[in-house]
Amino acid sequence: MTGISRVAVDELDSPLARFVEVHEALASTQDRARELARAGTTDGTLVLAGVQTGGRGRLGRHWGSPAGGLWMSLVLRPEFEARLASRITQTAAVGVAKALWEIGVEARIKWPNDLLVGGKKICGILAESSAGHAGGPANERRLDYAILGVGMNANLDPADLGVRDREITTIRSELGHDIYLLDLVRALLSNLEVELGRIRDFGAVLEEWRNLNCTLGENVRVRRFGETIEGQAVDLTSEGALLLGTGSGTVEVFEGEIEHLAQGEGA
Ligand code: BTN
Repeated sequence: MTGISRVAVDELDSPLARFVEVHEALASTQDRARELARAGTTDGTLVLAGVQTGGRGRLGRHWGSPAGGLWMSLVLRPEFEARLASRITQTAAVGVAKALWEIGVEARIKWPNDLLVGGKKICGILAESSAGHAGGPANERRLDYAILGVGMNANLDPADLGVRDREITTIRSELGHDIYLLDLVRALLSNLEVELGRIRDFGAVLEEWRNLNCTLGENVRVRRFGETIEGQAVDLTSEGALLLGTGSGTVEVFEGEIEHLAQGEGA
């Protein structure tokens, strides 16, 4: 049970929730949102589930989704070129971080879009997109739709999530009490609306990302294409790639997962 009614979400009157589905249990809100997107659902479709039995994380990982968390996916149809789709994850991370601060949780963004509190993960974001056909004057491929999934460890104890290999926290642990999930949805939708609304001004979004991040300045390890790179996270490029200062020069990391290294560890 989400404890959230569709009517209550409708009353939020958010352009990100023009069409809303609330399920007690679902395999994955991400998969349901994609099904709706393929069937032509409107920009601003929101799918919520109390429990996910097949929640998916990045890199094909399982995402534990028991009752008490906020598991949601949005269908977005931004009017822009498919090559700009990667902006959605970092833009969403800024919106989600601001929503968490609004409810009293001082979250920081780990590149590119994990939300951490005191180094422990509280929320994961999964953005998946589908490009349409080329068209228009520049004959560029347009974005058909993007599915933005947000998995928030809300009214849970970390042990409920059954994750052994990562440090996890929850809103309940951070605040010392549960929150109304509808209040959380309200904060998320309003902040995501603002941030996604200025995605074309990505420099401004990245400035906010810099203010809210916990990666820049850290020594990090990246595994990509079968190799491991270690270096210091120095800055972002204009499209949000991570610039690592390594012994053999600056390396640009476009995607993947990084590990923050403890002082004295690695590079
Ligand atoms: C990550 O790996 O950090 C991203 C996790 C994203 C999980 C959310 S929960 C709602 C939506 N439905 C899914 O199956 N996954 C996303």
